[in-house]
Amino acid sequence: MDLRELLQHLKVYKALALGGSLGCSILWCYAELFTTNYFTRMIFVDQSPLQNSTLDGWDSRYCNRGMNSAPAVAAMQMALSLAPDTVYSGTTAICLAYRSHPRDSDEVTHAMRDEDEAFFLGEARRGDAEWFGKLMADHTALDWRDSIRSTFGPGSGSFTKVLVIASTRSGCFPAAGPMTVVDFVNGETEEDSKKLAQGVVIDWGGHWCYWENPESFNKLVLDFLDKP
Ligand SMILES: *[C@@H]1O[C@H](CO)[C@@H](O)[C@H](O)[C@H]1NC(C)=O
Repeated sequence: MDLRELLQHLKVYKALALGGSLGCSILWCYAELFTTNYFTRMIFVDQSPLQNSTLDGWDSRYCNRGMNSAPAVAAMQMALSLAPDTVYSGTTAICLAYRSHPRDSDEVTHAMRDEDEAFFLGEARRGDAEWFGKLMADHTALDWRDSIRSTFGPGSGSFTKVLVIASTRSGCFPAAGPMTVVDFVNGETEEDSKKLAQGVVIDWGGHWCYWENPESFNKLVLDFLDKP
């Protein structure tokens, strides 16, 4: 609703949107409520359309690597109430590829590591641990798979072009999870020129790839947005 009111207030009828993680879910939710009409392009960065592992085949190939069940959410909420800084540091470690999937070639100095740690801890401490836990529970409980099919997919009337970015080094999702969004948007469309969605799997960063390698991220995003 905030996004809707902002667009109307600014009289913006042609917008581009970029969402990362929970930001993708916010855009899927917006589209479900108000259609994709005002958006010519959308970019989704590393978010699977369902965090949970479920019995319909949505297993560890697609779901969140950790936050994927009621017990996991309960454990996180408990940890948030007892030792929030531990949860914040753990989250940072999951979201940066040089920590979750380190490589010899990573050029990260101790000073950069410490700076990242201090920055993200500082940002997280500005929030309320209890509400972070409630937000994660809400986020984890929602299934956007059918919603994406029906608001972005063939027959939806959507013309919004979509770029999905996932990573082979994400501590949050195996790349196949976020990439299912490409299939949901394209559906049975066979002709490449008619496909509205494309996906790119990167390895130069993880869940927070835009932080780890802003040059590569900006290039990827701008190439898509600038395409005629
Ligand atoms: C996902 O798990 C949560 C518990 O964390 C549960 O409340 C919710 O109903 C589940 N949603 C789906 C779609 O499986």
